[in-house]
Amino acid sequence: MKDIEFKILENREIARDVFRMVLDGDTSEITAPGQFVNISLPGRYLRRPISICDWSKNKLTLIYKVVGHGTEDMSYMETGEYLRALMPLGNGYDIAAAPENPVVAGGGVGVPPLYALTRKLVEAGKHPYVALGFNSKEDVFYEDEFRALGVPVNVATVDGSYGKKGFVTDLIGDHSYAFSCGPLPMLKAVYSRVQDGQFSFEARMGCGFGACMGCSTRTKDGYKRICKDGPVLSWKEIVW
Ligand SMILES: Cc1cc2nc3c(=O)[nH]c(=O)nc-3n(C[C@H](O)[C@H](O)[C@H](O)COP(=O)(O)OP(=O)(O)OC[C@H]3O[C@@H](n4cnc5c(N)ncnc54)[C@H](O)[C@@H]3O)c2cc1C
Ligand code: FES
Repeated sequence: MKDIEFKILENREIARDVFRMVLDGDTSEITAPGQFVNISLPGRYLRRPISICDWSKNKLTLIYKVVGHGTEDMSYMETGEYLRALMPLGNGYDIAAAPENPVVAGGGVGVPPLYALTRKLVEAGKHPYVALGFNSKEDVFYEDEFRALGVPVNVATVDGSYGKKGFVTDLIGDHSYAFSCGPLPMLKAVYSRVQDGQFSFEARMGCGFGACMGCSTRTKDGYKRICKDGPVLSWKEIVW
């Protein structure tokens, strides 16, 4: 884990209130999709955790939604400006544990970490099926990027303005193993539809690297820190 200075290469709106930020800097310590960065913003005491959407050598992609002061500050940042982030944080998804045909189920701004996950699954010779859920057509992003990975992709919107009307769970079919990230009610619904998998959770964070216990959550294997032992928990250990 390092506190790294990144240079902003791109920061643009790709869906309603959702921005993609592409950064130039050291990505060499990232070990798994599903890890996150903790962003330092001038004048804001707490850092903001954002999932790694994708990475390559010296290039990091984040996708974030403007929901409050910190993410609003980020949305005003321009190409050429610098931003500091503590990274990589968290465990990430375990690709080796994936079966041949997992479903990758994401909702809203839970979708970003699933992009690098899907890329890695394909590179590992697996055949993931991607199910994405959003509220409305204006909120949909990265459908084409997922398709470009050569995987089947289906989209659902709650209001039916794009794709299938309904929830991501309506797209899962009879898949038994899910990789998932999204709002808690969605995670819960996906969890109840499958028999195994890996689920990424959010928590309010103090330190972000395991020192303050502020993000502890109960699991079947005892208390775990979402920032350090998570954010990805296995289906078998989750307690709702
Ligand atoms: C591991 C992890 C990965 C995440 N990945 C993404 C992502 O890829 N894209 C994305 O858009 N969002 C992501 N989030 C949610 C993101 O952290 C919050 O939306 C963001 O911190 C809000 O900051 P704010 O200053 O705009 O909001 P404010 O409401 O002003 O924030 C006030 C405080 O609450 C914290 N906070 C607010 N909402 C959340 C939340 N949902 N989770 C944790 N802390 C929160 C903020 O970090 C800040 O410390 C992730 C959260 C976690 C824990
Ligand atoms: S935020 Fe400090 S231990 Fe997780």
